[in-house]
Amino acid sequence: MRMELQTWPKVEAYLARSKGILVPIGATEQHGPDGLIGTDHLCPQAIARRLGERDGILVAPTIQVGMSQFHLDFPGSLALRPSTLMALVVDYVASFARTGFERIYFVNGHGGNVAPVRAAFQEYYAGLSLAGSDGDVRVRCKLKSWWELPQVDARRRALYASAEGFHATPSEIAITMAAEPGAIAEFTREPPPSRGTNDPLEHAGDNYFEAADFRRRFPDGRVISDSARATRAAGEELVALAVDDLAADYGRFLAFA
Ligand code: NI
Repeated sequence: MRMELQTWPKVEAYLARSKGILVPIGATEQHGPDGLIGTDHLCPQAIARRLGERDGILVAPTIQVGMSQFHLDFPGSLALRPSTLMALVVDYVASFARTGFERIYFVNGHGGNVAPVRAAFQEYYAGLSLAGSDGDVRVRCKLKSWWELPQVDARRRALYASAEGFHATPSEIAITMAAEPGAIAEFTREPPPSRGTNDPLEHAGDNYFEAADFRRRFPDGRVISDSARATRAAGEELVALAVDDLAADYGRFLAFA
């Protein structure tokens, strides 16, 4: 149930039976020579919409641009400053709260968003706390990145092991092949990228420096990942697992008092 395709009376009727909503959030940034610019928002969007259709859950308009400053040496990339993204997320949450939602579940597709989005949740709550809220605020926010969902995480490791890498991963490319069949015509089949010139452990959470430094370290944009291992069949499988995992986690979130 895509919110942008509803009317306000339909949303009001939905709120009478559920106070929860899924919010896909990602990025618009380079994904190596073969991956789509929209990979990071297409993946959580596909997963959230599939679950939304299956279980009748409202899905918000996707936040398509994220905290991607370190990709700006590659054309097609767009970046919000961390402070801009925080302001956007605070206003999203405040809008949902103002209109009656109480469980706001962000399905994330970009590691660089994690710190600003978590900080934005605290910014929203800080506004209530500092104003002396009366203890009757029921709004709860959650962020989960799709690759952390347990069955998805296990399957992508089993499929790709170290070839999964950290950026333009075969698992995320596979999901875009399932979500947008035909968008990737063929892979350039270059040899797997080198390990770059950075400590791999530093990549977790997208802890990079500025854009020119990133491109020097990772000249074709991939970070260790062998994107060409992606297949549409693997993408379909990963989406199905993600939908199952997300349904369970969202259910727990709705029940959380
Ligand atoms: Ni990505």
